[in-house]
Amino acid sequence: MFAKCFLVTLVLGGAAIAADDHASPVTFSKDVLPILQKNCQTCHRPGQIAPMSFLTYKETRPWAKAMKVAVASRKMPPWFADPQVGRFLNDHSLKPTEIETIAKWANTGAVEGDPKDMLAAVNWPDGWQIQPDVIVRGPVVDIPAHPKNDVIEWMSVTVPTGFTKDTWVTSVQIKPEHPAVAHHICLGFNAHTADVTYFEPVWQDKERDTEGSAIPSKGATFGPATPGGRFTSMAEDCYLPGNPVADYREFQAAKLVPAGSDITLNLHYTPNGTAVTDHVQVGFTIAKEPPQRRYVSLSTSAPMDATHFAIPPNDGNWQSPPADVTFDQDVELVYMMPHMHFRGKDMKYTLVYPDGRKEVVLSVPHYDFNWQLGYSTSVKVPKGTKLHVDAHFDNSPNNKFNPNPSRTVYYGEMTWEEMMFPFFGVVVDKDVDPKKILLGRGPIPGGA
Ligand code: HEC
Repeated sequence: MFAKCFLVTLVLGGAAIAADDHASPVTFSKDVLPILQKNCQTCHRPGQIAPMSFLTYKETRPWAKAMKVAVASRKMPPWFADPQVGRFLNDHSLKPTEIETIAKWANTGAVEGDPKDMLAAVNWPDGWQIQPDVIVRGPVVDIPAHPKNDVIEWMSVTVPTGFTKDTWVTSVQIKPEHPAVAHHICLGFNAHTADVTYFEPVWQDKERDTEGSAIPSKGATFGPATPGGRFTSMAEDCYLPGNPVADYREFQAAKLVPAGSDITLNLHYTPNGTAVTDHVQVGFTIAKEPPQRRYVSLSTSAPMDATHFAIPPNDGNWQSPPADVTFDQDVELVYMMPHMHFRGKDMKYTLVYPDGRKEVVLSVPHYDFNWQLGYSTSVKVPKGTKLHVDAHFDNSPNNKFNPNPSRTVYYGEMTWEEMMFPFFGVVVDKDVDPKKILLGRGPIPGGA
């Protein structure tokens, strides 16, 4: 018996090695590292937002079981679009085979394998990913040395662009100095108004006490007069760990920022135990001449008045009135970003074409307020098409983010109020007047 085996191995040496290979366990070096490089290390490396690094075997090994759970439940990487619907250019969710590889690796001892199998380490960009022509100084934010995962309040800050003439920008990078604590930063462009104080933070999370709490009267509308009321354009572009920089050159397009515009930034930091001061900068590349196509950031909303928008206490599945807009031009829909607050539960974007055909282009069945994710796509949308957006809210105690299930929740910019505010981006021919993209719309919220 023994002799026979020995003989076979000796004679069919090559084949035996191949068979062995096949039976060998999934290894870090050969199978797992490529997935981590592609889908995880943008956040899971030193100085970035995730609490642990997955650069090396040694760092990763203790997390094997947790990784298996996190990827199987699709908690990681954060990505909330229903995979059955739509097609997204920035989709970095794992394929089922990749989830299987990580699960197998964790189940079979999470071995290292042969370091010779390893791909070269990724040279992660540190700092500017574009070569900015202009850098605008953003806010300076002190992050306290609170423990990891402690919540610190959201805030918004307005700064001047300093643009003295109308400017076609081709890419925008929001650059925090300390990515480790910058959970996300979104910005929008606004015409300057006299009431704005530059560099002064407006806090978003403090629920006013019963006396101070302004509960809107029936029929009242929520508008820019509300404290810090610049919500309509605060998410044209976002810094989000793991997401690429907003680069309109991909669409052979540019965005027009009018002379004298302000930038309003919406900032969310997560402390990590060390006090730091973050200096935020915003870099732009600028078109030498007007582009062929124009990128326009748009948004819509459910009705904001208290008659239509009032989420009852303890309601776990309140259906918001929909947000509807109709395109009055041919456009290419290239970007969608659902925006709700703590009680946001799900959101669905549906195109209703002029011939009545319906196409769901984004469905986020489990919205998570903590991740302001944007979804890039490319859908040709003919004039006359309607964008119809549905959303539900969870004001029950089962929603772990709910600060107070016994309160009726109205529309408002503060995070303890609610918003049903779908953002989207389109590309149009450069000669199209952005005010005429949507039917019956005057000045465009969130648009330049
Ligand atoms: C966009 C940033 C980002 C990406 C990409 C990302 N992570 Fe994370 N990950 C985080 C952050 C932040 C945390 C800690 C907070 C949390 O658990 O939400 C975390 C936590 C984890 C945890 C701990 C989970 C737990 O329940 O405690 C695991 C395991 C993990 N990530 C694995 C992965 C894997 C594997 C990938 C790639 C397939 C990945 N992550 C991609 C940001 C990211």
